[in-house]
Amino acid sequence: MTPGTAISFDQIVASEDKFQLATYKKMPIAAERGEGVWIYTSDGQKYLDLYGGHAVAGTGHCHPHVVKALQKQAGQLLFYSNLVYSETRARAAEKLVSVAPAQLSKAFFCNSGTEANENAMRMARMFTGRENIITFSGGFHGRTADAISATFLGKYREIGKPNVPGHLEAEFGNIESVNALADESVAAIMLEPVQSMAGVRTAAPGFFRNLRDICDQRGIVLIFDEVQTGIGRTGEWFFAGSPAADGVVPDIVSLAKALGSGVPVGACLVTDSIASKIKENDLGTTFGGGMFAMAAVTATLEAIEQDQMLENVRRVEAHLRERLKEVEQVVSVKGRGFLLGLEFADKIAATHKALLEQKIITGTSSDPRVLRLLPPLCLGIKEVDLFVDALRNCF
Ligand SMILES: Cc1ncc(COP(=O)(O)O)c(C=O)c1O
Repeated sequence: MTPGTAISFDQIVASEDKFQLATYKKMPIAAERGEGVWIYTSDGQKYLDLYGGHAVAGTGHCHPHVVKALQKQAGQLLFYSNLVYSETRARAAEKLVSVAPAQLSKAFFCNSGTEANENAMRMARMFTGRENIITFSGGFHGRTADAISATFLGKYREIGKPNVPGHLEAEFGNIESVNALADESVAAIMLEPVQSMAGVRTAAPGFFRNLRDICDQRGIVLIFDEVQTGIGRTGEWFFAGSPAADGVVPDIVSLAKALGSGVPVGACLVTDSIASKIKENDLGTTFGGGMFAMAAVTATLEAIEQDQMLENVRRVEAHLRERLKEVEQVVSVKGRGFLLGLEFADKIAATHKALLEQKIITGTSSDPRVLRLLPPLCLGIKEVDLFVDALRNCF
């Protein structure tokens, strides 16, 4: 390829396929530009994005406030490590803690969801002096060694072999299955409060209360993996502390995805009690807390606030649910806010494809009958109507 010379879609595909591992099944489009809920392709087409690039585009694509903050930071200082103080990092941590439940008072920054979960589990082991971790069938926690060993979904543990020892599997929503495993060897219970990849599976609020009680009684650390549910996706800043969790706040929340509007960044939020046990050099990562990522965090949280996106999620979710009643093929709508699973009577592969042909990007899941929607938090009523009309056209 000659630098600076435009290339065709076919050339892009040929080049990507030649020079990269074939680890993802790609849609037949080349994304070139984004604006809000829209993706523009290299051949000038416009797609409604109801998937947000794996739930990352929370503030929408290229939110002007985020772009401006990143442009400013890029001209100032891209990176320096945690060996120095930084106003940009100070602002990001304070802002993130300010929107979190009051008990979650300190942040640790890293680079991705899997890394946030690795650190969450490590902190739980350090805090308790115990080794075992309970997670749930259907939960997904990432692809690094400990996180993939905690992932009892499909083939993940298999491809992560040899697994880290000490991972125990309970049944999501079934407190008895937790009770049976939660002995004095258990450091943490970790869960996706809404199991996204498994097909958007939810549990009753009382389940979270019962988990909290078990953890309190037995000295176990409770971890919510909010890599997907955090930063406004459910119409609340966090699932932690929300009515859907019966107000339960865990000891650690892990975050990534929408936290940086597309700039890679992850974080753990922890209680004072956990923080008091973490000493110098117990955790670390070169890029964690870098200025460019920190500017993205602050601007992301400010954009969500300024545009009242949490209120928008709740309002637009209600409209979407109402309109979906018109589509008889949808047998149930699972999930909360903008983490929704549309359950169909039949497999959704053809519907997913037919929507893409109508220029709407949606997501699949490990349940072949569930179409997943993870749109930007700024999705509006008009675009929902467009989606539902397109969905009806599919049948
Ligand atoms: C709930 C959850 N946890 C962890 C991860 C891993 O995050 P990452 O891909 O940033 O490592 C994901 C990614 O999809 C996720 O959905």
